[in-house]
Amino acid sequence: MFEVTQPRVTCYRVGIRMNEPRMPALLVAHHRPGFYFRVLQEGEVGANDDIMKIADGPERITVAEIDAFLYLPGHSREQLERALRIPALSKGWQSSFQTILVQESSAKTVLGNPGLANEEQAPAWPGFKQMRVAHIRRESDSVTSFVLVPSDGQPLPVFQPGQFVVLRLPVDPNKPPVLRSYSLSDVPGVDYFRISVKSEANGMGSSFLCNRVREGDLLDVSAPRGSFTLRSGETPLVLLSAGIGATPVMSMLHVLATNKSERQVWWIYAARNRSEHPFAQESRSLLKQLSRGRSYIVYSRSSSTDRPEMDFDATGHIDTALLERIEVPRDSDFYLCGPSAFLQNMVDGLRNWGVPTENVHTEVFGALEGITPGMARVEHTPHVPEWAPGSGPSVSFARSGITTAWDSKYQSLLELAEACDVPVRWSCRTGVCHTCMTGLIGGSISYDPEPLEKPTPGNVLVCCSQPDSNVTLDL
Ligand SMILES: Cc1cc2nc3c(=O)[nH]c(=O)nc-3n(C[C@H](O)[C@H](O)[C@H](O)COP(=O)(O)OP(=O)(O)OC[C@H]3O[C@@H](n4cnc5c(N)ncnc54)[C@H](O)[C@@H]3O)c2cc1C
Ligand code: FES
Repeated sequence: MFEVTQPRVTCYRVGIRMNEPRMPALLVAHHRPGFYFRVLQEGEVGANDDIMKIADGPERITVAEIDAFLYLPGHSREQLERALRIPALSKGWQSSFQTILVQESSAKTVLGNPGLANEEQAPAWPGFKQMRVAHIRRESDSVTSFVLVPSDGQPLPVFQPGQFVVLRLPVDPNKPPVLRSYSLSDVPGVDYFRISVKSEANGMGSSFLCNRVREGDLLDVSAPRGSFTLRSGETPLVLLSAGIGATPVMSMLHVLATNKSERQVWWIYAARNRSEHPFAQESRSLLKQLSRGRSYIVYSRSSSTDRPEMDFDATGHIDTALLERIEVPRDSDFYLCGPSAFLQNMVDGLRNWGVPTENVHTEVFGALEGITPGMARVEHTPHVPEWAPGSGPSVSFARSGITTAWDSKYQSLLELAEACDVPVRWSCRTGVCHTCMTGLIGGSISYDPEPLEKPTPGNVLVCCSQPDSNVTLDL
């Protein structure tokens, strides 16, 4: 005995099987998705067996209708509420419909499809805007903060704490500018942005900023972007970071202090020692403004001049054994940022400690992990294509630090990214699922084929788009 649970999730493999790459989009657009069964009672099934309908579910919605509610434009509240009354519908589809409903009820204008991808609000300006370096301040031996003010005197947008900007840096006048992302580390809603940069030995962007940029210089800065943002709620909050990973959570701590949040807030931070500990005083005074703020600082290599209990609480590393010992509640919302090994260990540790995945939020200071269903994972360093570049507009992959020229032999920006071994995310490859949605930091694109539903402005579905002008992508 079977129960129909959800439409078939569209994927590029059906296109390969039927020798028609657009097949995933055609199946959805023509209301022919197919569906999955849940087995309610096991038994033998054979060819030519009769299929008998023995019960109807509530609402009597067809599979094709449910599929269209998610993948095709025009998600009416009434349709979504009906879909949510179907108990057989799988958890994944229910949570997609819930997300669309929640976003529809919020004050924000809903654009794109929040049921398919984490849609941010449209960026405040397209491309880059000149900002003046108003102030430079040393935060620690290796971290320098830059306070940026608009050079056109226009007010700045209120960003979400945790978001980042992309800087276009003229490192070498004979080469394309270098693109680097930096989290905003101060409070939103003021007349400046602050970024805090760790100076990397031989690092092109950070060396330029830390060694060559002076107060008064102009820099090209994108609008704030990113979905690693503080969500409202009542649960305890753990802002857990290491090294330069403090920057996005620092902005969150500022907001919590400004709003006099009554949530329990943990500031847990790992540094090498006192001279490598940025924002020490700033975080301490913000925590004092919170009625339920707690802090725990761990140094991995404390020096003899570092003062236990004043500068730091323990030597070593952060892990879940430490969280258990200091009585961090397991039902907290965790916001994590730091070096990739630290992040991986913490994410694995929190999962094993019983923290639900949806309570763990991470920011990666580099390329995001790829999603390439059905393909073996191979790690390659991103590079410009192996053959001569095309003669089209330039395409920059900001997280991967690659700029190359478009060639019309590629069907899509996704294909060009793959030729550069830039980590990419996709599923249908034909404009249905939004898995490939990427921040369009600058430039303009066209779609061919047209996606079934467009993403939020400021984002692009790379699987079905081509550049119209020089573009910068958050990949
Ligand atoms: C969303 C996001 C937010 C970010 N936020 C911040 C932030 O708040 N603060 C911050 O400091 N960074 C942040 N980053 C990282 C930042 O974008 C840069 O990646 C970082 O500044 C390093 O860039 P770079 O040009 O200096 O180094 P790159 O030139 O890109 O070099 C990368 C690494 O390789 C090493 N390297 C380079 N050349 C050589 C060589 N010849 N031999 C050996 N090693 C070499 C460098 O030392 C460096 O460690 C963020 C990144 C993202 C994606
Ligand atoms: S991969 Fe599905 S929309 Fe691009």
